Amino acid sequence: MEYITLKNSDLKVSRICIGGCPMGGYGWGDVREKELIQAVNTALDNGVNFFDTAETYGLGQSEITLGKALGSRRHEAVISDKFGVHAQKGQPTFYDNSHDYIISACDGSLKRLNTDYIDIYTIHYRDGKTPLSEVVETLEELKKQGKIRYFALSNIHEDDKEEMKQLKGKFVSFQDEYSLACRKNEKDMFDFSENYELTPLTWGSLGQGILTGKYNLDNVNFGADDRRSRDIYVNFHGDKLLKNLEIVDVMKEISRKHNKPVSAVAIRFILDYIPDSVVLCGAKRPSQVLGNVEGADWHLDKEDVQKLDEVSK
Ligand SMILES: NC(=O)c1ccc[n+]([C@@H]2O[C@H](COP(=O)([O-])OP(=O)(O)OC[C@H]3O[C@@H](n4cnc5c(N)ncnc54)[C@H](OP(=O)(O)O)[C@@H]3O)[C@@H](O)[C@H]2O)c1
Repeated sequence: MEYITLKNSDLKVSRICIGGCPMGGYGWGDVREKELIQAVNTALDNGVNFFDTAETYGLGQSEITLGKALGSRRHEAVISDKFGVHAQKGQPTFYDNSHDYIISACDGSLKRLNTDYIDIYTIHYRDGKTPLSEVVETLEELKKQGKIRYFALSNIHEDDKEEMKQLKGKFVSFQDEYSLACRKNEKDMFDFSENYELTPLTWGSLGQGILTGKYNLDNVNFGADDRRSRDIYVNFHGDKLLKNLEIVDVMKEISRKHNKPVSAVAIRFILDYIPDSVVLCGAKRPSQVLGNVEGADWHLDKEDVQKLDEVSK
């Protein structure tokens, strides 16, 4: 496994992080708790020490499953958790970065994770009204109480940059969507990393599964229990799907050349292309974790990168 130290911290993490979105238990088709628990342990056994979750995934279920899966191995793991999406069953969902909400959200997350501390507490989405400096004050309060160790950003945009300049050095990382199927945030990946002292963490790194090579035009008719049936999951619909399958054809050629799974090519491209990045990838079972850890400890050839760059630009 490859490791890096997150900016402004002493956190040494694996460059492959297991994403906890499927641990939410719904929205990904067939997901089973037993397999998710095995997946977390397989990850730990194979050098992955970094796990990402959020209060909102499965309305807390992801945190519960992750906490249960880590159990007595909690000390081996670095947990990234996220707050800021106020979601309750039957109620409208809204973004919230207010002091009182963050304080209570953190207590709820600690309880569900069954832990005394969260390693990285991440602002999932900005709420459009609470100044970032105020959010930082709340997070500093939690840090002083020992409930969180560090904090981070996610889904930040051009208009957050002014405030972020004043707060440089406070955050350890940022998360945004990035993959061979989604390169629209590439400029920010470099900018935030180089100019704002943030380690880039990529989400949707496998294009929600399309970049694993197992999907084709005949098997992307997901059921209603799978979020990918919805049009907003663009990777599986219309022209975007056709383009992705073209990218996957090139990936398959490269995977054969290196004798690696297609998922490992998706991950390796990011690790090689975005310096000092961490790839978040959701996994539903141990075999998927094993396919994904194969993304570590090798490199693409220059001509592979060129081919992938050209087909996915
Ligand atoms: N900050 C944010 O706003 C944000 C947003 C989204 C996600 N995230 C984080 O980023 C993580 C990754 O994103 P994601 O989970 O949405 O998408 P992803 O990692 O691109 O895709 C995950 C899906 O791909 C399939 N898969 C994974 N490994 C595989 C393998 N080796 N072989 C075959 N199929 C495999 C699984 O679904 P199937 O088997 O059903 O195909 C899995 O659920 C999330 O879990 C979450 O922690 C953060």
